Amino acid sequence: KELIAEAEAFKAQTKEEVEAFRIKYLGKKGLLNEYFAEFKNVANDQKKEFGQAINTLKNTAQDKVNALKAELENASDNSTSNLDLSRPGEPITIGSRHPISIVKNQIIDIFSNIGFNVSEGPEIEDDWHNFTALNLPEYHPARDMQDTFFIQTNPDILLRTHTSSVQVRYMENNPPPIRTISPGRVYRNEAISARSHCFFHQVEGLYIDKDVSFADLKQTLQYFTTELFGKAKIRLRPSYFPFTEPSAEVDVYWGLETETDYKITKGTGWLEIGGCGMVDPNVLTNCGIDAEEYSGFAFGVGIDRIAMLLHQISDIRLLSENDVRFLEQFKSAL
Ligand code: PHE
Repeated sequence: KELIAEAEAFKAQTKEEVEAFRIKYLGKKGLLNEYFAEFKNVANDQKKEFGQAINTLKNTAQDKVNALKAELENASDNSTSNLDLSRPGEPITIGSRHPISIVKNQIIDIFSNIGFNVSEGPEIEDDWHNFTALNLPEYHPARDMQDTFFIQTNPDILLRTHTSSVQVRYMENNPPPIRTISPGRVYRNEAISARSHCFFHQVEGLYIDKDVSFADLKQTLQYFTTELFGKAKIRLRPSYFPFTEPSAEVDVYWGLETETDYKITKGTGWLEIGGCGMVDPNVLTNCGIDAEEYSGFAFGVGIDRIAMLLHQISDIRLLSENDVRFLEQFKSAL
């Protein structure tokens, strides 16, 4: 009886202790075998009681070993017994996309639906790709339209002022037909204010094939602005760029009767979003494309300006300050 109580009270911290306990009671030379051997020496009238006692002891010891083993097993795989499952979890802070990326991706989607691919090029550019190939020879006064950051002169190396440089590279390396858009960062030496920065982002588009017309250009821009802004009215205002002829500025109407009203930051009326035109034959020739056989159109829009319109951002500088309180607000956007 004492042994039964002792077996019941037994506690173990390690597997070794459990094993020692098992050997002591249930092992070949253990207590139980000793008692079983003793059985034949017990007086007949006590056999029943003795037999029951050793059976109980055997079961108790066996149960104990099993229970202790299971317990130690659980503890060793870091079981839930030590964990407070009711504790609230740590919040996971998910990042958000930058509004420039959101709008850039939207524009890429819109143009890839009509067969345009995406091309990219270097931000540090040479004179040929940024200016000369685009019909802007040295000393041409139109170079002053874009205040340029020069990194080195003679030969001139500069920060690209537009992604038209990528279009030049693309035409030099790919035969027509060409349908490509070139998104990227560009640099201009302008005073920094709420409206303009010394760097911003553009998407320029280029379409070169046989018999491309100005109507194709206008319809493409109409499709683009409608997809981006909702029901949009556009206007092409005659303008000048050295690399296109004829050239135009692209205006979008933020009128009260359009469905885009809720996206307006302030005011209504015509708003310029970029430039466009038919690629000047000189540019095609400079890039190794037969200007007799092929024609094309090009356009360029500012991503920052469009992002500011769509997301009611009042100051362009917010886009590059990396203030988390600003960036966090775009979590729900695409
Ligand atoms: N490259 C011009 C700019 O950055 C925009 C433009 C592109 C105009 C294509 C016409 C055609 O100002």
